[in-house]
Amino acid sequence: MGLVTTKEMFERAYKGGYAIGAFNVNNMEIIQGIVEAATETNSPVILQVSAGARKYANPIYLKKLVEAAIECNKKAGHDIPMVLHLDHGADFEICKDCIDSGFTSVMIDGSKYDFEENVALTKKVVEYAHPRGVVVEAEIGKLAGVEDDVNVSSDDAMYTDPAEAEEFVKRTGCDSLAIAIGTSHGAYKFRGEARLRYDILEEISKRLPGFPIVLHGASSVPQEFVKMCNEYGGNIPGAKGVPEEMLKKAAEMAVCKINIDSDIRLAMTANIRECFEKNPEVFDPRTYLGQARVAVKDMVKHKIINVLGSENKA
Ligand code: G3H
Ligand code: 13P
Ligand code: ZN
Repeated sequence: MGLVTTKEMFERAYKGGYAIGAFNVNNMEIIQGIVEAATETNSPVILQVSAGARKYANPIYLKKLVEAAIECNKKAGHDIPMVLHLDHGADFEICKDCIDSGFTSVMIDGSKYDFEENVALTKKVVEYAHPRGVVVEAEIGKLAGVEDDVNVSSDDAMYTDPAEAEEFVKRTGCDSLAIAIGTSHGAYKFRGEARLRYDILEEISKRLPGFPIVLHGASSVPQEFVKMCNEYGGNIPGAKGVPEEMLKKAAEMAVCKINIDSDIRLAMTANIRECFEKNPEVFDPRTYLGQARVAVKDMVKHKIINVLGSENKA
């Protein structure tokens, strides 16, 4: 099967009341950990590449690593559906570049623009992507916190307006929509109690029946990793994410794609810190990166089975 678009994946997820995990990839160990987890749980998976990842690893390396994952999987007799997705495409050019180089899905993030500019930009990307068999995720509303280059303070946080969401989807022809209902990027998501605006999600799904919604900033920031980081020399007090039960509820509603990056970072860092602290003699990167890779795999398996509900949906 190899690389596919999100079309059928989202149709099934919507009907089945579960979501597909979209995990950010930056290097070989992360890709291997995620793909092994998806394979062992027989789950579809989205591998997503941000502008930061492209800058860090070079897009050619990332593409070839994903191709290697597919080839290794096939050789081992597995064939889970995988999507290669551009995360937070900032402009038409980066989307075009990814579409031309074999991505099966791109996100155009026009949320920093006003409504009309966002519509025009998204439409332009859709018109380029669709004839080439690529699907497009768009975004309206602003997530609190740091969103790639754009800083949005919590006070500026703007929930998605359901009427605007409906008009936006109808006018742009985008295939999925990221909305703001209270999540935010990074490891510090809520000042007080975690709260998601399910009422907005519900209203959007009434206006756009069957249309797949995307949740960014959806890491749950597992406290075991925060504790390990802090215990072994780190300093990330008070890091807090979206409780898993809240994500589960969103997945049962119209949310078909749940974005996870920070939890990968935390799983790796916690384990590398632990490895260094407990084994000061270690200087072979394969030892600590190997431990980090297992941690990514275990974390992703946990999400698939206990949060996303995508186990055995490949
Ligand atoms: O939404 C942002 C993702 O976590 C990607 O972050 O731009 O640092 O790779 P990044
Ligand atoms: P987290 O920072 O919550 O992992 O969100 C990642 C994300 O939305 C990537 O687009
Ligand atoms: Zn995001």
